[in-house]
Amino acid sequence: MRIARLGALFFTLAAVVAMTAPTLASAEVPDSPTFHKDIEPILQRSCQVCHRPNNMAPMSLMNYQETRPWARSIRTKVEAREMPPWHVDPKVGVQSFKNDRSLTDDEIATIGVWVDAGAPRGNAADAPTPVEFQEFGAWTIEPDLIVSSPPHTVPAEAGDWWGDYIVPSGLETDRYIQAIQTKAGDLRVVHHALTYAVTDPDSPLADSSGDAFLNEYAVGKNADVYPDGTGRLFEADSRVRFSFHYHSVGEEVTDQTELGLVLYPENYEPDHILYSRQLGQAGELDIPAGQVTRHDGYQKMYLPGKLTAFQPHMHFLGTRQCVEMIYPNGSTEMVSCANFDFNWHIVYAYEDDAAPVYPAGTTMHVISYHDNTAGNRGNHDSKNWTGGGSRTVDEMAFSWLSWYDLSEEEYAAEIEARKADEND
Ligand code: HEC
Repeated sequence: MRIARLGALFFTLAAVVAMTAPTLASAEVPDSPTFHKDIEPILQRSCQVCHRPNNMAPMSLMNYQETRPWARSIRTKVEAREMPPWHVDPKVGVQSFKNDRSLTDDEIATIGVWVDAGAPRGNAADAPTPVEFQEFGAWTIEPDLIVSSPPHTVPAEAGDWWGDYIVPSGLETDRYIQAIQTKAGDLRVVHHALTYAVTDPDSPLADSSGDAFLNEYAVGKNADVYPDGTGRLFEADSRVRFSFHYHSVGEEVTDQTELGLVLYPENYEPDHILYSRQLGQAGELDIPAGQVTRHDGYQKMYLPGKLTAFQPHMHFLGTRQCVEMIYPNGSTEMVSCANFDFNWHIVYAYEDDAAPVYPAGTTMHVISYHDNTAGNRGNHDSKNWTGGGSRTVDEMAFSWLSWYDLSEEEYAAEIEARKADEND
């Protein structure tokens, strides 16, 4: 059984390498790309959701006039894979994600050729139909329960603000969540908003580590709708923590962000309960001044299961995190690695048919890298030792992993189904 799984992984890796190895020579990269024919479709799919008026991104990329002055900067950002913000390593592990907006190597090469040629506009008749984007304040689900953060005023000019609010949910009985969405009040000032369920009445405002991660607001992301028969428990009297990164936009703005929940009926218990927990926290963090460090954390899973999402969590010094599965027989499989930037909290949710399935007794091994050198842009003080803690200037090293448990029969059936897919 294990051999079949490893076989599947090697198959995927080989396919990825074959797809991405040729860059400039590839037939998919046009010789003389133009804005309307080749670049605009890329912007529509991967950039405009954020780069449009009144949104979080600093400039709009909705047409040629707006895009032309940024051509060189666009090239730099896409070649570094900093834009679009999607930092999972395309050469490691599982490659099939929901909401994946990343560019292929061919698309990146196309942008390069276009910029070298002076960013020509081309023929307006080649332009794709403009994309209709969702307006501010739209729900993509119909919530049964909406919880609002308190109004927060972001001054016209100020440094970025990271901070939390905890508010009552008003829910009086245990219920299972079927779908969930965090909706920013004003997209311009909310860089990110994470939501958590707080069950401990004494949970300190400055430390979310005892809470259960629910959902993250990210531009252009729709609600998380759990597969049929799958749900997350939301306990009676839970409160909701909103964890914000606000930034100023040159005008005073008051934001109120909302969390919306679609709930299964009272007393309904789904077949599979989805968990989202901080796993693989490394023991004592020891990050000496001027050094790059690696810390390892482990979490044994006592039941078979399916891993549905990976979200690295570190603070300013974190640069990269990987999750590896160590199987009960000692063999290992790298699931995902992602570069990390504290400004972006991205949940990498696996496509259902690619989500890793593992046997009972598997250990999740979380590997975290921190860079305490002056070369790390996120580093505010490379002259000091840094250790673990919950303030943003302290460090963390764990993954938010989401999974659901499987019975032995379900596990065997999943493995069979994947073997069959592979033989197709
Ligand atoms: C999820 C939202 C989002 C998406 C998608 C996105 N961007 Fe950005 N982009 C931003 C934000 C926000 C910034 C400001 C810097 C930051 O916060 O990292 C930015 C910054 C940039 C910059 C640097 C601007 C400067 O001031 O120097 C460039 C260039 C850029 N983006 C290009 C792109 C391109 C090209 C794409 C698509 C291939 C893209 N972005 C997709 C949100 C996004």
